Amino acid sequence: MKDTYILGIETSCDETSCSIVKNGIEDMNTVILSQIDIHQLYGGVVPEIASRNHVKDITFVIDKCLKESGITMDDIAGISVTYGPGLVGSLLVGLEAAKTLSFIYDKPLIPVHHIRGHIYANSINKGMQFPLIALIISGGHTELLYMKNHFDFEKIGGTLDDAVGECYDKVARVLNMKYPGGPKIDKAAQKGNISYNLPIPLNDESYNFSFSGLKSAVINLKHNLDQRGESINKENLCTSFQNVVIESLTSKTIRALDEYNVKRLVLAGGVSANKGIRNTFEKLCKENDIELIMPEFKYCTDNATMVAAAGYYLYKNKKFSDLELNAKSSAKFE
Ligand code: KG4
Ligand code: ZN
Repeated sequence: MKDTYILGIETSCDETSCSIVKNGIEDMNTVILSQIDIHQLYGGVVPEIASRNHVKDITFVIDKCLKESGITMDDIAGISVTYGPGLVGSLLVGLEAAKTLSFIYDKPLIPVHHIRGHIYANSINKGMQFPLIALIISGGHTELLYMKNHFDFEKIGGTLDDAVGECYDKVARVLNMKYPGGPKIDKAAQKGNISYNLPIPLNDESYNFSFSGLKSAVINLKHNLDQRGESINKENLCTSFQNVVIESLTSKTIRALDEYNVKRLVLAGGVSANKGIRNTFEKLCKENDIELIMPEFKYCTDNATMVAAAGYYLYKNKKFSDLELNAKSSAKFE
């Protein structure tokens, strides 16, 4: 059978990325240009600056990706692109680039939902098997999904307020850790002990999550200690905070696997790079005889490899779009 090469483009936040993936599984080449250094100065992503930098970098990134891969546009079957959710200005840059390539080279345009992309990061080197429960934990999303097959998403729970990554980043900011704070808290949490008493949020029978109360609890704790002139043990606070996050995520996910009688768990999104979360899921899945599938570290945070991998399965099902495709800042699953 002829190999299918999909070119993917991702610009939903502050990474300009292009990738070529073979048959949804093999990463032929991926280029990611991160703007983290630029946004660190402001303590978070500044949308206007993000889109300007995408404009500056997108052609270079696509060109580099193609050249290094040795694959020409003739070999490419389709152009997949993140259309949402994300920052509108950022999304538009990737969309315009994808539409231009699609038009000039007469290749189908494949719209990819960013969160769907995160799930399909797990297809790289492994392929996808169903049924599965997917826990998506990123800077903008926290969702628990049941998938019976490709493109068949049943949302069984999600955050009622902040996303888990957002919570990590805001807590890190209060602790004077640079953006993005998630990895820094993770590192500090490996060295501390659980010594601060923080509430486990939404500890109920639902499959929903809530992280804004936890964020406020940490902020209040820090302010109270500051006011009393008492110092905080940063590492212990990070460990205590991360422990609550892990407890909240793992307890509901393991319960969902049991109730849906599913023996396969897929983690996805930037926060799935978290060592504490990965280690705890590894232990729990072993105990419960569940196959745990996690993206390689480099595919956890935003990248175009996942967009090209998801694009392959959409291509096989002829889920194409015309050139009217527009950016959607809060795109729902479809
Ligand atoms: O998936 P992603 O790149 O962007 C979104 O789609 O939102 O996720 C970025 C988020 C940031 O909030 C970042 O702090 C978090 O992922 N993150 C982590 C870790 N690595 C990245 N959070 C906790 N622990 C980590 N090791
Ligand atoms: Zn993402």
